[in-house]
Amino acid sequence: MEAKAAAETGGEWAERTYEAMAPVYDDFTAHHDYEGWLTDLVKILEADGLQGKRLLDVACGTGKSFLPMLPRGWQVTACDISPNMLELAREKAGNVVELKVADMLELPRFGEFDLIWALDDAINYLLSPAELRQALSCMRANLAPTGLLLFDVNELLAYRTFFAETVVVERDGGQLVWRGLGEKDVAPGSICESRMEVVSDGEGGEPAALTHRQRHFHEAEVLAAIEGAGMECLDVYGHGLDGIPRQPLDDSTHTKAIYIARSARD
Ligand SMILES: C[S@@+](CC[C@H](N)C(=O)[O-])C[C@H]1O[C@@H](n2cnc3c(N)ncnc32)[C@H](O)[C@@H]1O
Repeated sequence: MEAKAAAETGGEWAERTYEAMAPVYDDFTAHHDYEGWLTDLVKILEADGLQGKRLLDVACGTGKSFLPMLPRGWQVTACDISPNMLELAREKAGNVVELKVADMLELPRFGEFDLIWALDDAINYLLSPAELRQALSCMRANLAPTGLLLFDVNELLAYRTFFAETVVVERDGGQLVWRGLGEKDVAPGSICESRMEVVSDGEGGEPAALTHRQRHFHEAEVLAAIEGAGMECLDVYGHGLDGIPRQPLDDSTHTKAIYIARSARD
């Protein structure tokens, strides 16, 4: 009998996607206000007892999720599965940030951190509750005793809108076309895809294309994974496209949920 090929992990899929997307990632996300978003996230972390300034940014991409922390005096270590994304982060950050290629499913112990975060959909590239629990366990192993973990996940509303629509972003020399392949009534826990095409103004040739594959995680799955990874959830927030965290999480209006956790106390 022929052996069944092992299914690809979320990390393997994401690596292929982001190796191809790296040159256009900053153009596609140019409208995201990281300065404002991270300021609000730090405020809610402080309310949950944030201490110290050692940050591990997991799935840091081109650096947008840690760069605003540098002038605030944070000491940053950051990692991503895509070497091409990290190369762009390195160009912006230079030597002041320790940058590592790493899959969050097999995250090494880089040290002891006061804050670990994984931002802007990175967690949704994990494709099952088992992968989510494994990644969170690896993050926990990098937390200082008083350290906090924060991550966001896309809510169902994001998959029923952005992942079910076509969006065109104009850029110098062409367009970025996001073609959501999802359904407007996609079920909780679904895996959704979107094809992205990089179209050049020049004549001829097929547009370069890549496919994003993400899984929706509903609140009960996330809370179970946090507990299964030996942590306790301190707070859950939600926000819409304005990026301002609010409680309670409301899946009819929020496109993202934000979870804050720490190592479970004995
Ligand atoms: C939408 S980008 C967010 C990047 C950055 N955090 C930001 O806010 O701009 C998602 C990132 O997650 C990374 N990623 C996805 N799955 C990963 C995994 N298993 N391990 C490490 N990085 C991963 C991708 O390579 C990509 O850089």
